[in-house]
Amino acid sequence: MSQLDSLKKHSIVVADTGDIDAIAQWKPQDATTNPSLLLAAARDPRYCDLVDEDADRMFVAFGKEILRHIAGRVSTEVDARLSFDTEGSIRKAERLISLYESAGVPRERVLIKLASTWEGIRAAERLEKSGIHCNMTLLFSFAQAVACADAGVTLISPFVGRIYDWHKAARKVDDIPLEDDPGVASVTRIYRYYKKFGYPTQVMGASFRKTGQILALAGCDLLTIAPDLLEKLSAAQGEIPKKLSPAESAGDRVEKIQLDEKAYRWLHNEDAMAVEKLSDGIRRFDADARKLEQFAASLAKGERATA
Ligand code: E4P
Repeated sequence: MSQLDSLKKHSIVVADTGDIDAIAQWKPQDATTNPSLLLAAARDPRYCDLVDEDADRMFVAFGKEILRHIAGRVSTEVDARLSFDTEGSIRKAERLISLYESAGVPRERVLIKLASTWEGIRAAERLEKSGIHCNMTLLFSFAQAVACADAGVTLISPFVGRIYDWHKAARKVDDIPLEDDPGVASVTRIYRYYKKFGYPTQVMGASFRKTGQILALAGCDLLTIAPDLLEKLSAAQGEIPKKLSPAESAGDRVEKIQLDEKAYRWLHNEDAMAVEKLSDGIRRFDADARKLEQFAASLAKGERATA
């Protein structure tokens, strides 16, 4: 049995890509996109028919096409420029859902992805109450995870690889072994806390750099994995032991914490990595979204060759 098939017995496998052919090939249950992934897909000549100068329409066009190949949900990200704007995020999410519904896609098949800022979390709390389900991204700190669970969001995407990247750079090393991997440790801590206290919010490990990080989280509710790592898991043979389970978290000696805005901001700010990576992530998604807009505009003018 391949490691991928074995992993699927423990966790829901999700494809982390805008490459529709890869989704058709790997047949995941769900799929996740972000502005960087959609920029790469939009530049691919196979998908140029989906490129649209209206970014929301383009994201929905990709999402609708992706949904033809999966049984579950697609995640579509809200414009990073709205990361500190609760009302703007809600309006944007409602527009995306309205475009999906006009295209015949029910809201149950869409997760609106929002940056896990205080403002994004407040937007998600209100969207969930109106039946719009959210996937909280750029999640690096325990404070972000606690606030998301308390807000009753459907799903969080705690990042592994970007935490690993930060610590590798800080320690000036080429690799960090799995047993000491701070990204793996972050998702493990969040998962165990959620399960111990019975939060229904799903945990989806994201942002992987190597298959070992994925296998170390076997049992996590969902794992979103890029096609190159799906390929490696599929080529490797062997049974994967389950590493995370709700039952094992029950006896953990951890206290439940309550975070109002001041306490959240303090706790998040205590984590230098998370502060840097959240800001950096917002800047990077914004930069790629702007490139995507420019690409779509140039394509509309018939300049694809030079874009
Ligand atoms: C998925 O939801 C995330 O956007 C993705 O896993 C980020 O991965 P990266 O850190 O490789 O960009």
